[in-house]
Amino acid sequence: MSLNPNLSEKSPHILVLGMGGTIAGIAAKPENPLQYEAGQLAIESLLTHIQSAIPEGLTLVSHQVANINSRNLSEPLLSLLGHTVRGALANTLVKGIVVTHGTDTLEETGVFLQLTCGSYAQNLGKLVILTGAMLPANAPEADGPSNLLDAIRWASTPLDNCPGGIYAVLAGRVCLAMDLSKRHTTALNAPLQASPSSSAGLINPSWLFGVKAVQAAWNEDLPIPEGEAWPWVEILTSHAGARAETITRYIGSGVEGLVLSGSGMGGFHDAWLNPLAKAASEGIALVRTTRTGAGSTNPDIPEKDLAGCFASGSLTAPRARIALQLSLNAAKQANLVGKSLTWQDFFARIAVLPVIR
Ligand code: SIN
Repeated sequence: MSLNPNLSEKSPHILVLGMGGTIAGIAAKPENPLQYEAGQLAIESLLTHIQSAIPEGLTLVSHQVANINSRNLSEPLLSLLGHTVRGALANTLVKGIVVTHGTDTLEETGVFLQLTCGSYAQNLGKLVILTGAMLPANAPEADGPSNLLDAIRWASTPLDNCPGGIYAVLAGRVCLAMDLSKRHTTALNAPLQASPSSSAGLINPSWLFGVKAVQAAWNEDLPIPEGEAWPWVEILTSHAGARAETITRYIGSGVEGLVLSGSGMGGFHDAWLNPLAKAASEGIALVRTTRTGAGSTNPDIPEKDLAGCFASGSLTAPRARIALQLSLNAAKQANLVGKSLTWQDFFARIAVLPVIR
């Protein structure tokens, strides 16, 4: 393995991008690994730690994009990561890309990279692999080193001709990055527990079939919003005792979209009906999803949709929020060049993406 970027950048290599997270975290007392600070170690030092296990002949180049606790992920940082990934995909010397990231918001970054870089990666036959860890780097049972090694192996030599695209490899499993959803606070497989995935060591043919179906349906990436141009979109959760004020306070605030995390099949409290109708009439984009954590939200199920409110399909609330932001931005970009497309035209392409079972 070569880790000297000056020499290696000029030869074929795997690019490893560091974003921070627990994988780069340090606990004050290693015996108490749940109390720690994320984003403390540089990506280079994570690679140095696993240096002896890197397959012979593989050249790695590392680049620190950020070193944060991913709960603080910002939209401009997503743009920076998206442009970095697109630039690396375009570089013929980059054979594959690994991104180390905090697991708390991998869900958002996964869908963001799929929708902005997924088709490009697939056309080039390159793999972008997200990974992270649940335990800090100095914990006795730290899971980061094995996750990082697995991700590097996958980025360089995927099994069973797995097609180019945006994936995540964690806890010995692989899934499409857009399917990631952290559904446990501490379990080592938390980010993949509820995600359709395959063992990273023996690919499940039905999972691969599903991956190919998603990739066939996603054939045009959306533009990456530039820095502060990201539309303001909020997630609001419906619950017992929900109040009209939760909606009315946003009318006239400058918010461009609301993702409604509803109960059951994505229904929301009746107290929201009139204010939401007013929000829609004022041009606020509305998407409804479910707070249950699984299953789809389908149009006019269980009741006819409020005019202007779009069902999110299988998108969870955090994913639906990113999808809505990218759709609002794509519609604005299209309008600027005289194409009369709406955010619904773009969002509909995302909401109907096949679900892998
Ligand atoms: C983070 O998301 O940055 C902290 C938590 C984690 O990586 O598991």
